[in-house]
Amino acid sequence: MAASTTSRLMKAVLYEAYGGGSAALKHAEIPIPRPKDDEVLLKVEAVSLNPFDWKIQNGVIRPFYPRNFPHIPCTDVAGEVLKVGEGVKSLKVGDKVVTFLNHATGGGLAEYAVAKEVSTVYRPPEVTAADSAALPVAALTAHQALTQAAGIKLDRNGPQSNILITAASGGVGHYAVQLAKLGNTHVTATCGARNIELVKSLGADEVIDYKTSEGAALKSPSGKKYDAVIHCTTGIPWSVFEPNLSSNGKVIDITPANASAVLTFIFKKLTFSKKKLVPLWWTSLKSENLRYVVNLMKEGKVKSVIDSRHPLSKAEEGWAKCMDGHATGKIIVEP
Ligand SMILES: NC(=O)c1ccc[n+]([C@@H]2O[C@H](COP(=O)([O-])OP(=O)(O)OC[C@H]3O[C@@H](n4cnc5c(N)ncnc54)[C@H](OP(=O)(O)O)[C@@H]3O)[C@@H](O)[C@H]2O)c1
Repeated sequence: MAASTTSRLMKAVLYEAYGGGSAALKHAEIPIPRPKDDEVLLKVEAVSLNPFDWKIQNGVIRPFYPRNFPHIPCTDVAGEVLKVGEGVKSLKVGDKVVTFLNHATGGGLAEYAVAKEVSTVYRPPEVTAADSAALPVAALTAHQALTQAAGIKLDRNGPQSNILITAASGGVGHYAVQLAKLGNTHVTATCGARNIELVKSLGADEVIDYKTSEGAALKSPSGKKYDAVIHCTTGIPWSVFEPNLSSNGKVIDITPANASAVLTFIFKKLTFSKKKLVPLWWTSLKSENLRYVVNLMKEGKVKSVIDSRHPLSKAEEGWAKCMDGHATGKIIVEP
């Protein structure tokens, strides 16, 4: 337990009230946090931004999150262990790790952060800080949507499935394409024209430009009917999905907090429809799944596409980009 960080200050980016977007982010110098018994102190090497981070700032789950103001946002962090709490067994000083912090308390946009041992995973040398910080929320949402909600087995042992992934160029979508192709799947993907070659290179079998009439209609160029849709954007009504689904097709909506999705979900339930809308309200972040995707990255089976990297001193530029909704892959901030 080195004492070098005790009573020293660190740079952090925080906000003091709901709303205000990137302009409300403030740069501050605050005490370096101290790890509790079940925590480690990390020197942050990279942190990734997720739309949920700015949605929390907007008050999407007010008054529960953030728990307190001022709030240091962001949860997906890669770093080096500087101190370990008394009860920590599996990590030691000097380990390179990736972790997910609690959304209620945040803490990622800073030079140092404390993380629970149970949420922290060893990062092998083949996996960079930025590539691994990109993973937690986005890759684990893709993993949960595919394996739990859509029932895809990622070892090619399941039946053949036709999958549609919307917004395949985004944070969640680009992992969903790569993970889906580990299963026995045919993947159709949507994205903007500028990202078609990228999404094909991630493994998609066919890619449609969402700004064309075929893309807006979600039609598979080869005429496939989708057994599952991993729906990573918003604003597409059920009437567009419905004719493209197989008889038992499901739409797994990862942004279901809107009236149309809720009403469709209830209506499909009440009418015992075989075609279903499955809301994925919340990703259950599990370290075993994070370890699994880190390992896939080490083996070269999954990669992170990095949209842009921003120094902590310009974190608000990354925040504004994230709010804009047009990132290709993940936005990274580096202290
Ligand atoms: N339920 C959960 O636990 C959970 C977890 C993670 C994320 N989410 C939610 O899932 C959504 C996606 O997250 P994300 O991190 O993947 O977002 P993101 O990285 O910000 O997505 C940006 C990408 O979406 C593309 N896009 C935008 N509209 C599109 C459309 N109509 N069709 C096809 N592509 C489109 C953009 O392409 P262009 O630039 O070409 O427009 C851009 O590449 C967000 O609403 C987020 O809050 C939910």
